[in-house]
Amino acid sequence: MNILVTGCAGFIGSNFLLYMTNKYPQYSFIHIDALTYAGNLENLKQLEEFANYQFIKGDITNRELIDRIANNGVDAIINFAAESHVDRSITNPEIFVMTNIMGTQVLLDAAKKYQVKKFIQVSTDEVYGSLGSEGYFTENTPLAPNSPYSSSKAGADLLVRAYHETFDLPVNITRCSNNYGPFQFPEKLIPLMIINALHDRDLPVYGDGLNIRDWLHVEDHCSAIDLVLHRGINGEVYNIGGNNERTNIQIVQKVLAHLGKPESLIRYVTDRPGHDRRYAIDASKIVSELGWKPKYTFETGIVETIDWYLDNQDWWKRIISGDYQKYYNQQY
Ligand code: NAD
Ligand code: DAU
Repeated sequence: MNILVTGCAGFIGSNFLLYMTNKYPQYSFIHIDALTYAGNLENLKQLEEFANYQFIKGDITNRELIDRIANNGVDAIINFAAESHVDRSITNPEIFVMTNIMGTQVLLDAAKKYQVKKFIQVSTDEVYGSLGSEGYFTENTPLAPNSPYSSSKAGADLLVRAYHETFDLPVNITRCSNNYGPFQFPEKLIPLMIINALHDRDLPVYGDGLNIRDWLHVEDHCSAIDLVLHRGINGEVYNIGGNNERTNIQIVQKVLAHLGKPESLIRYVTDRPGHDRRYAIDASKIVSELGWKPKYTFETGIVETIDWYLDNQDWWKRIISGDYQKYYNQQY
């Protein structure tokens, strides 16, 4: 297989490329990434030795470039590239529309023109909006996104759906819950809390801290996409989630306890505007139809993840010493 992947210098994509090159050394991967603030080629250092891998720095909205790359016997396109952070979409929504919607459309056009055998859109449970204390998101839950980020992802999902219905493009959409694990950018909840705790800095918890997210280890997300690539039925959506609902305050307490830091570091701050209350995924379709089985329990995964940040301080110290500091000071 010759696979074009996008956005794999970021958190999930880099884990995915490491997972796939290890499992399928005979496959070829062409990787395009614009290397925005969230892209870091250090995550992929291991691939320098891997012969069937090519990196091209470029933007998925660049139609001419994408056309040239796709015209190379590409069998499948997997689109991870996105602006991914909800808080940034509140202060600067435009880039989210450009990358997440326009970029996806450029990739879909290339997939159609060169008749790729599979197009996978890596989407999110946030397109379904927010749940009350009961119920789960299924693949049939109506889309009701609440942030500029999630609405741009929903817009992209609708385009992907339309290219299947209109042009018979062999697509799948995966909608995953919150990922955690190695290489997650420090702006996201878990790494941010680990890094602040290690510096004895305040841990900023939005609102009452009782919003719920459904956590999935990134490696389990990768194994699910692998299954969808090989066995997904064209046109289908697959929800991916780990059945690990936790309030934000539970996550923060877990981080503090593992690091031996006091709960007095917790600081409740102004809530995120439009803050979704609860996400919870019903993943029974991918489990029963494709045989997906997550490997991690949250209790093991979170401890391993905190330890990864302890063992890889150079990785995140390089990130937080750059432009990130400016972002952090504006945000908090
Ligand atoms: P990330 O922000 O860590 O990485 C995004 C990557 O995309 C970076 O390497 C960046 O350089 C690249 N990129 C951004 N704009 C680009 C452009 N215009 N052209 C080419 N490359 C560009 O994101 P992530 O957390 O790894 O998320 C990956 C995908 O998974 C996204 O589509 C996101 O919506 C989705 N997702 C994320 C989660 C999560 O918990 N992180 C959960 C469900 C779905
Ligand atoms: O659900 C999947 C989504 O998960 C992905 O589509 C997004 O790309 C990804 O960023 C993530 O979105 P969230 O908004 O859920 O993740 P974030 O880490 O930003 O926040 C998780 C929760 O923690 C959320 O309820 C907001 C809260 N939070 C976050 C930060 C950064 C805080 O209380 N304080 C913080 O400083």
